[in-house]
Amino acid sequence: MDEPLVIGFETSCDETGIGIVRGATLLADAVASSVEEHARFGGVVPEVASRAHLEAMVATIRRALSTAGVSAADLDAVAVTAGPGLAGALMVGVAAAKAYALALGKPLFGVNHLSSHVAVDLLENGPLDEPAVALLVSGGHSSVLFVPRVGGQEIVELGATVDDAAGEAYDKIARLLGLPFPGGPHIDRLAVEGDPAAITFPRSMTGKADPPYAFSFSGLKTAVARWVERRERAGEPVPRADVAASFQEAVVDVLTAKAVAAAREMGVGHLLIGGGVAANSRLRALAAERCAAAGLRLRVPRPGLCTDNGAMVAALGAQLVIAGAAPSTLAIPADPGMRVTEVLV
Ligand code: KG4
Ligand code: ZN
Repeated sequence: MDEPLVIGFETSCDETGIGIVRGATLLADAVASSVEEHARFGGVVPEVASRAHLEAMVATIRRALSTAGVSAADLDAVAVTAGPGLAGALMVGVAAAKAYALALGKPLFGVNHLSSHVAVDLLENGPLDEPAVALLVSGGHSSVLFVPRVGGQEIVELGATVDDAAGEAYDKIARLLGLPFPGGPHIDRLAVEGDPAAITFPRSMTGKADPPYAFSFSGLKTAVARWVERRERAGEPVPRADVAASFQEAVVDVLTAKAVAAAREMGVGHLLIGGGVAANSRLRALAAERCAAAGLRLRVPRPGLCTDNGAMVAALGAQLVIAGAAPSTLAIPADPGMRVTEVLV
């Protein structure tokens, strides 16, 4: 087959993403976000997200097809996020993708949202024909993965967070500092004005006896909250930019140190970073510095492809088609708790 033309549906959280790729070439990346509808609640409201997906779906598909300059009949396969994510939100995307696959008579691939965050790298940085270590950092997950083949089905989880995900920690600290939801980008911007060495917050899970590739961010969150409370109780102003920068430094210090250590331990030449938090400017800068020092090639997509989108789902779908993977059946369910090592349903 020539390079397969694949459409990807993403609805696991608050972004309705429809992407179209030909092999590893990005043709369209249409995203409709309901984030503003959730902002006043301080977090994503599942029912609101599901309804917004439903309302945005058809227009977003049309926009993607038109941007790509293809018609639905040209598609070779339909890929969709089957999980993990919000049950109702996932169901909207899975139902829409099934309808397309059925109507077009094309194979359906129900894929893992987290593997898609890794596979999207191919669209930006080209093929990678050797094993890599991937740091996956999103709003719901934080893991270090051994990836024999990007877009392949064999993934080993070397370590993960034992409590909050990195993105969750950003969002909670943002809330504490009175910043809007989702807080990651706001902390990123505020931190630029602050001193990352102003306050020494704990680097969790970095003791000799701790698992080498596991993370914990809930202790850090508490430490930041206590620090801010002490200031407020003493009637002193809270240096928000310094708090943001120091908190961020504690997160990205541990993330990059562990990811680089894993890549060295596994003897791979490449470190990939994916997921919404991979859009973070300080994470990208520190990872670049530490990879260079360790002789590792860093691969991280542009920020717009790090946060949720449909192109990443299409990218993974295309790799599965190329690898000759057996498609999913039309009976697959949405799987809110899909495990990170399960790439295709
Ligand atoms: O991958 P993603 O878009 O959705 C999930 O699969 O969860 O990740 C969303 C998370 C949110 O917690 C958001 O605050 C965080 O990614 N995020 C960032 C940045 N942009 C998004 N965190 C830090 N810095 C950023 N620039
Ligand atoms: Zn995501």
